[in-house]
Amino acid sequence: MQAMVIDKYGKFPMRLAEVPIPEIEEHEVLAEIHAASINPVDYKIRDGKVKLLVKYKMPLILGNDFSGVIVKVGAKVTRFKVGDEIYARPRKSKIGTFAEYIAIHENDIAFKPKNLSFEEAASIPLVGLTTYQAFHDILQLQKGQKILIQAGAGGVGTFAIQLAKLMGATVATTASEAGMNLVKSLGADEIINYKTERFEDRLNNYDAVFDTLGGKNLEKSFDVVKEGGKIVSVSGLPNARFGREYGSGFLKTILFSAATKKITALEKKHNVQYTFLFMKPSGNQLRIITNMIESNKIKPVIDQVFSFKDAQKAMDYSESGRAKGKIVLKIR
Ligand SMILES: NC(=O)c1ccc[n+]([C@@H]2O[C@H](COP(=O)([O-])OP(=O)(O)OC[C@H]3O[C@@H](n4cnc5c(N)ncnc54)[C@H](OP(=O)(O)O)[C@@H]3O)[C@@H](O)[C@H]2O)c1
Repeated sequence: MQAMVIDKYGKFPMRLAEVPIPEIEEHEVLAEIHAASINPVDYKIRDGKVKLLVKYKMPLILGNDFSGVIVKVGAKVTRFKVGDEIYARPRKSKIGTFAEYIAIHENDIAFKPKNLSFEEAASIPLVGLTTYQAFHDILQLQKGQKILIQAGAGGVGTFAIQLAKLMGATVATTASEAGMNLVKSLGADEIINYKTERFEDRLNNYDAVFDTLGGKNLEKSFDVVKEGGKIVSVSGLPNARFGREYGSGFLKTILFSAATKKITALEKKHNVQYTFLFMKPSGNQLRIITNMIESNKIKPVIDQVFSFKDAQKAMDYSESGRAKGKIVLKIR
């Protein structure tokens, strides 16, 4: 099969390679991939920035979510059959969706929403699960609460605005002029043009912040949240609590603790809880997201669809950081 691979960590372009179709284990299915989406984690993995959390063998097929059709099932697969249309975020040890086929555990899969094309469906799993885990598992967002979603026009942000509104929250978000209309159309209540205004001057007493930017934006988010509130970040640094829960081991946990000293001090000063989220695959949670999509409560937001041969161009576009919604690769 054809696949987009890297041979070593670093800022090298992906290479189109002929590689064997993966073998399946007894709880896995083989899926023919129709579409995959690009996520910033793809170029972060390529650059070796995720090495502390997951180590990969080279050559590595990149790609972290997809939609497709099952062409083979393992001996112990119970919930899926050949011909099923599915979508998924594979587990981190088994990524590789920029390819014609993937072997994937049945627990990581859900049926593709019936009202979406393969390209639309491929745009959902990683950002959908990330947001669901942030809002449902960590923030336990309640009706009437106020949340700031950073970078509302991005792949995560466009899903997050819709989910927060669905959960009954009031949503503030940051965007540039180019993203204003999009975030408004998705239901954002307060829109801050981050190029001309400081969000921390405009917002206060918020219940929660969903941080997708990290750095100074994360630090300033503490000024926005009320006492007892929560910040969940997908772009900040993992802290010691994350290290313990993720089973990172003693040394890495110490390292995380040292790197997040400032954040820990801000947590104490503001009496706000900081959580770093490294999203997990979950077929069960993806099924919940399927229901939201099939009942037209959440819709995919796609910036651009690229052909498979243009995968590197798609990755470069993602890396520009300017996408409005998701970037998708049409593979079949
Ligand atoms: N830890 C995890 O499990 C996890 C999971 C998912 C995502 N993530 C991370 O979350 C981050 C966001 O992912 P994504 O897919 O949403 O990225 P993305 O789609 O590439 O985000 C691009 C968007 O961000 C906006 N943006 C850039 N700088 C901004 C700023 N300072 N303020 C407000 N908006 C800004 C851009 O708007 P303009 O062009 O208008 O500036 C653009 O629309 C990435 O770092 C990704 O790796 C982590």
